Amino acid sequence: MPRPSLTGVRILIFGYGKVGKELRALIHERRGEVPELSDVQIVATVTRRGISFGDRDAFVADEPFSLDHLEKLKPDVVIDTASANYETGEPSLSLYFRAFELGASVITTNKAPLALRFWDIVERARKYGLTLGFQGTVMSGTPSVNLLRVLPGSWVRKIRGILNGTTNYILSRMAEGIPFASALAEAKQKGYAEEDPTLDLNGFDAGAKLVILSNFAMKTKLTVRDVKLEGIANLKEEEVANALGEGKKPKLVAQSDGKEATVRVQLVSQSDPLYSVDGVENALSVETDVQTITIRGPGAGPRQAAYGALSDLILLKRGALLLP
Ligand SMILES: NC(=O)c1ccc[n+]([C@@H]2O[C@H](COP(=O)([O-])OP(=O)(O)OC[C@H]3O[C@@H](n4cnc5c(N)ncnc54)[C@H](OP(=O)(O)O)[C@@H]3O)[C@@H](O)[C@H]2O)c1
Repeated sequence: MPRPSLTGVRILIFGYGKVGKELRALIHERRGEVPELSDVQIVATVTRRGISFGDRDAFVADEPFSLDHLEKLKPDVVIDTASANYETGEPSLSLYFRAFELGASVITTNKAPLALRFWDIVERARKYGLTLGFQGTVMSGTPSVNLLRVLPGSWVRKIRGILNGTTNYILSRMAEGIPFASALAEAKQKGYAEEDPTLDLNGFDAGAKLVILSNFAMKTKLTVRDVKLEGIANLKEEEVANALGEGKKPKLVAQSDGKEATVRVQLVSQSDPLYSVDGVENALSVETDVQTITIRGPGAGPRQAAYGALSDLILLKRGALLLP
């Protein structure tokens, strides 16, 4: 059953790595000035190592974690900042389902459960009269999901975006004449690319984000397995040179028109709002029946992702975190 009131909000943070720690820091920094945060209470943090009770900066596992802790601690909101598991979505998926049964809403920066089981999760939240925030899953703190929340009464026809900073950095450097292998090495050296960048390079990461946006904006029933992924690994240096000769740039564009969802390299011209989005920056164009809106901003960074979750928490307190 949903709790009668959200005054005095008890939070459990699941995953206490870079994003989880930034989230705790943001709550502490801002609670004096943001009324919606003044009564927020962190009741526990959870990692692979176990559960740490209370609101402590340093993580010390008090005991192994189990879903029974939700019953004992009675959080109002579970915030998932744990690592992504694209095979099953676990353990986050089971955590969400149990949280909803016990009357807690969920906020997540972890894309995997939503990229795999978006509507199952939304329907469970709806069944228990609860809600779900996921701004941090797409473009971190740059309002992509939450931009869509402030376009009521218009119909989204198409979404198109640069949703992966690593590949955009590599393509931007290739457009400056740097070979693919060197651009990738640079991206790793600067900390933009993981040691294993496969899920960035093959378009999977952008595809997972596209699923979340497309399902939310256009009520498509996609999972990440439905997205046609091409990635950037097969892009030839001469294709980049030819595109530049025609005044175009190669961009890895994630696009859904409600019928087809693709992540593939497009050669974009100067009139395209995505043309000037370079480096690790991300951008999203939302085409509605009324107008087209483009936003751009950082797509990653622990503080930015944590801000995505924090903005959801504030919207939840205002009653504005509505389900699709
Ligand atoms: N960093 C970013 O810029 C960014 C941006 C947007 C979204 N995200 C997403 O936000 C999430 C967190 O990212 P991060 O950078 O904070 O990662 P991170 O530093 O690697 O932290 C991940 C945390 O998840 C915990 N964890 C992993 N598997 C778990 C399990 N089975 N049960 C409980 N806890 C588990 C880890 O526990 P241990 O501490 O015990 O290892 C760790 O505390 C990821 O899903 C990521 O994709 C990150």
